[in-house]
Amino acid sequence: MALLKILHFPDPRLQRVAQFVSVVDDALRQLAGDMAETMYAAPGIGLAATQVDHHICLVVIDISEEKNQLITLVNPEIVSQTGAKEGEEGCLSVPGIYDKVTRAEQVRIRALDLNGQPFELEAEGLLAVCIQHEIDHLQGRVFVDRLSRLKQMRIRKKLLKLDRETM
Ligand code: NI
Repeated sequence: MALLKILHFPDPRLQRVAQFVSVVDDALRQLAGDMAETMYAAPGIGLAATQVDHHICLVVIDISEEKNQLITLVNPEIVSQTGAKEGEEGCLSVPGIYDKVTRAEQVRIRALDLNGQPFELEAEGLLAVCIQHEIDHLQGRVFVDRLSRLKQMRIRKKLLKLDRETM
């Protein structure tokens, strides 16, 4: 296992649209394992492959307190969604920034597991938010893109400065 480098907004690589995974193999399982380790170490509750510069549809999520309920989603797709709710979000690619985003309240998704088997999952609350946030990453979007222009500019400035200072 290895820790992976997480890209920071406004890195243009975060805007790349991820490709569907055609084969679930050992290389993919290895990447998923490294992503989980990276997420736990950060610490965070979700990580999309896009954030570690792998542009394929792969996401890891664990919203549990004990960090023992890892969910890995290959090619996740939202099948249906209901409701709308505003909640505060953050992102490992946007360190130190939290803001309110409106998302569907409940989602039903379809994905493959790490054996290549399809499954469906119904989610609400934090898990639903997290799934939508990670699927956004796969489509080249960060939550900042859902905020006002003014906020986007402020965040961009702040993070560019921060990354310069810590380089
Ligand atoms: Ni994120």
